[in-house]
Amino acid sequence: MTQTNRKAIVILENITRTYPMGEITVEALKGISLELTEGDFISVAGPSGSGKTTLMNIVGLIDRPTMGNLLLGGTNTAALSRRELTRLRREFIGFVFQSFNLLPVLSVFENVELPLLIGGKSLSRNERKERVEYFLEEVGLADRRNHQPPELSGGQQQRAAIARAMVGKPKLVIADEPTANLDSENGERILELMKKVNHEEKTTFLFSTHDPDIWKMADHILFLRDGLVESEQKNNK
Ligand SMILES: Nc1ncnc2c1ncn2[C@@H]1O[C@H](COP(=O)(O)OP(=O)(O)O)[C@@H](O)[C@H]1O
Ligand SMILES: [Mg+2]
Repeated sequence: MTQTNRKAIVILENITRTYPMGEITVEALKGISLELTEGDFISVAGPSGSGKTTLMNIVGLIDRPTMGNLLLGGTNTAALSRRELTRLRREFIGFVFQSFNLLPVLSVFENVELPLLIGGKSLSRNERKERVEYFLEEVGLADRRNHQPPELSGGQQQRAAIARAMVGKPKLVIADEPTANLDSENGERILELMKKVNHEEKTTFLFSTHDPDIWKMADHILFLRDGLVESEQKNNK
C-alpha cells in the first residue's frame, strides 16, 4: 500500500444503550457503528432527544453501552474494570461539558491544572506550571489566570474548560454541545479554537451540537435521529 493509513483511535461496533423506565424501555441508541481516525474533527448533529449526550458519554467512558463494543486506542473497553476505565479516561480523553463545569472557588489557573494533579501524571511543579500557561496562552486566557470562573463570560469559561480538557494532552477530546450556552459569535469562536488545537496538537475532536451553524464547521458530520445515524456528510478541508 502506498498511502499512509491514519490510525483508528475510536471504534464503535453496534453500540446500543437502553434505559429501563418502569414498564417501558427507552432505546437511546439503537446500534451505532463508527470509526474515528487520528486528527478527525467530527460532529454529531441531531435534534434534542436523538441520543447525542448518550453517545458522547459512552465514548467518553462516563457511561457504558448496553450492547456492542467500544475500542479506544486499540483497547476493547468491554472487559475493563471501573478502575481501569477511570485510568483510560484520564490518560486518553479530555471532556468539555455544555455547562463548562469549572470549579467556582478555584482560579482559572487552578481549574486548568487540576487534571494534572489528579491524573497521576508525574510532572514537576514547574512542568505543570509551564503546561498550564501554554494552554492558557493557547485559548487566550493568560491574562485571566488568577480570576475565578464566575468573574468570566460564558465564552471565556468555555475556553478555560477547553484548556482544562487539553492540558493532559489527550488523544481525544469529546465535547457535548460545547456552544449551547453561548451566543452564536462566541460559539463560532469556540469552534475556531477547537479547530486550531486540532491542527496544532493533532488531537481528535468529537463534538455534538443541534446548531447547523456549528455542525457545518466540522470536517465530517454524523446526523443522529432516534438513536441511529441517519446520514453523514464530509466537508472538504
Ligand atoms: N438517564 C436516562 N433515563 C431514561 N432515559 C434517558 C436517560 N438519558 C437519556 N434518556 C433518553 O434517551 C434519549 C436520548 O437522550 P440524549 O442522549 O440526552 O439525547 P440528546 O443529547 O440528543 O438530547 C431520550 O429519549 C432521552 O429521554
Ligand atoms: Mg444532549
